[in-house]
Amino acid sequence: MKLDEIKTIAVIGAGTMGHGIAELAALAGYKVKLRDINEEIAKKGYDQIKWSLNKLAEKGNFGLTPAKAEEVAQRITPLVDIKEAVKDADVVIEAAPEIMKLKLELYQELDKSAPKHTVLASNTSSLSITDLGKITKRAGQVVGMHFFNPPVKMALVEVIKGEKTSEETMNLIVELSKKLTRTPIRVEKDVRGFIVNRVLVGPFMFESAWIASRGDATIDQIDSRMKFYESFPMGPFELQDLTGIDIGYHLMKEAGVVIPPVIENTVKAGNLGRKTGKGFYTYKDGAGANYTREAGEKFDPIAIYALMVNEAAWLIEHKVSTADQIDLACQLGAGFPEGLLRRADRIGVDKILKSLDEHYAKYKEERYKATPLLRQMVEQGKTGEKAGAGFYGYEKTGKEYKALKVEIDKNSKIAWVILNRPARLNAINSDMRAELPRVFEELRFNDDVRVIVIRGEGGRAFSAGADITEFVGGKPHQFVELGEFFRAPELCTKPVIAAIDGFALGGGLELALACDFRVASKRSEVGQPEIFLGLIPGGGGTQRLTRLVGLSRAKELVMIGERVSAEKAYQYGLIDHMYENEKFEQEVKLFAEKLAAGPPIAIRLAKQIMNAGAESPLEAALLMEREAFGILFATEDMMEGVNSFLMKKKPEFKGR
Ligand code: COA
Repeated sequence: MKLDEIKTIAVIGAGTMGHGIAELAALAGYKVKLRDINEEIAKKGYDQIKWSLNKLAEKGNFGLTPAKAEEVAQRITPLVDIKEAVKDADVVIEAAPEIMKLKLELYQELDKSAPKHTVLASNTSSLSITDLGKITKRAGQVVGMHFFNPPVKMALVEVIKGEKTSEETMNLIVELSKKLTRTPIRVEKDVRGFIVNRVLVGPFMFESAWIASRGDATIDQIDSRMKFYESFPMGPFELQDLTGIDIGYHLMKEAGVVIPPVIENTVKAGNLGRKTGKGFYTYKDGAGANYTREAGEKFDPIAIYALMVNEAAWLIEHKVSTADQIDLACQLGAGFPEGLLRRADRIGVDKILKSLDEHYAKYKEERYKATPLLRQMVEQGKTGEKAGAGFYGYEKTGKEYKALKVEIDKNSKIAWVILNRPARLNAINSDMRAELPRVFEELRFNDDVRVIVIRGEGGRAFSAGADITEFVGGKPHQFVELGEFFRAPELCTKPVIAAIDGFALGGGLELALACDFRVASKRSEVGQPEIFLGLIPGGGGTQRLTRLVGLSRAKELVMIGERVSAEKAYQYGLIDHMYENEKFEQEVKLFAEKLAAGPPIAIRLAKQIMNAGAESPLEAALLMEREAFGILFATEDMMEGVNSFLMKKKPEFKGR
């Protein structure tokens, strides 16, 4: 089955997860059958979705207006009869409770009632896709599709391959996840906990609990360290209180894991977290987990990192996933401040291994046994950033970046500069501001690069603009210095393309405006929303936008601040090319390749004199053009171009 053949999606066994999935599917234009166990629950679920859609419309998310929200809600049919729910479904997404016996019965039923071509996707967070497949006669069409709660907010979807899942099914569900505006990560093997939970529950939550159980540190010391010093969204104990301590407890118990006493005791006392008013912290009268910054000052979190990295290394070793994908999954699914393995490279793989070995020698527990990949990396000297290689190679640019990734394809001579803060929709923070001009300076002198493409990580945004959290307490001069950041693509002597897939807002759009070209996927939305913050664009938006779309349209974008669709932006001339969502990557590459095949000196001069000429009197601009034209006559590339034309062959420009 192809993506565009999917018309109807059935969501089975609703709950908040199922509601969110149904909502996403309806937002993407699908007919949705939402099945729940009785009329009352089905109706409640539907009302809940309507409420959520109205909330999204209030914020203007997903381009929703109240009228459109109503239209989306009407695509959803709540019902109870399972046969009715799946009889014309092309994809069934099952979000039933995590009880294997129940799911196995359900899959037998789904297999009988759904059409032959229908794919059965399970939103399980821990159960075996292979076993679910085995109970059906269509194991090739049974796949994992693990969303994170709440699905309309959390961008990640783990797409999991069971032993028999076909490649066609995997690709289809990857594409479907993208269509639902989520970011899919392929999980190539059906391992317990997949990626995020494997890294999060055992190592992050449970190892912290072991440290506290042994009395090596207190709960608030650990939470404080991880939140305030290591920049995780919250500490491991606060997180368990939020998700429900019993969730991880049962998951690990089922896996046969020994439960750390601090967790065992808390669960036995019936203190399951926020939902019971008490967990590791007490939640009363609005009070929450109120640990101080000072508490974490002296706690060394290496043991927690060591276990997380060991787990991630195991996933790589067993070809479940790659470093890049694991990092993206941890950022999007668990809000990690940066990729776990990038951080491991910064800490030093040797230090990670040492911590594991010391713990193993002391406690003889299996979980401290370092996976062979870590030992091998250390033996080969791949100990991380300082050594020039670790989970990532650091030889490409000589330096590594916190908020960016740089990938250079020497064959096509294209450099991809990736805005890499996916959990924050690639918002521009001080790291990114400092790093981007440096990257452009390096790429400028790199002979392997002829074209630079800027894109966003995570599949939802190019960039949602300046990081608003840095506005509080920021000094005016920091923002005045923004100019260097926004001028980097413009001053660069090589052509720069902004590849917009998703949101390009505020500073994100201004960065794109400073590029030579803006191309966008159809689903993208652009805008200058600074006015809602009592501001105006400060990175060239008021000026470059005016030059591109005319004074009054620019004023409307700046003064009203509403986002516009890619289609409208294309009509305005703000976007040069608009591509189908599915073909976006491919089309961007083709466009960049055309530029990379051109004569570099001529392209550089064209960029420089066209930029400068647009701001100069015509006479001076024409003079610049004539001079540049003359200079090009002295280049080898010009000879190559002319000879190739005469000899009817394709020119190969060398940039000389
Ligand atoms: N600065 C800091 N954080 C930002 C951000 C920004 N400009 N834009 C998004 N984020 C964060 C959100 O706070 C959220 O973090 P959380 O998960 O910790 O809550 C995360 O990125 C995802 O964004 P969210 O708002 O949940 O996604 P959404 O799909 O509901 O909405 C946008 C997307 C782009 C409409 C919305 O994030 C937005 O309006 N962002 C601000 C855009 C802006 O005003 N930019 C100009 C700044 S001058």
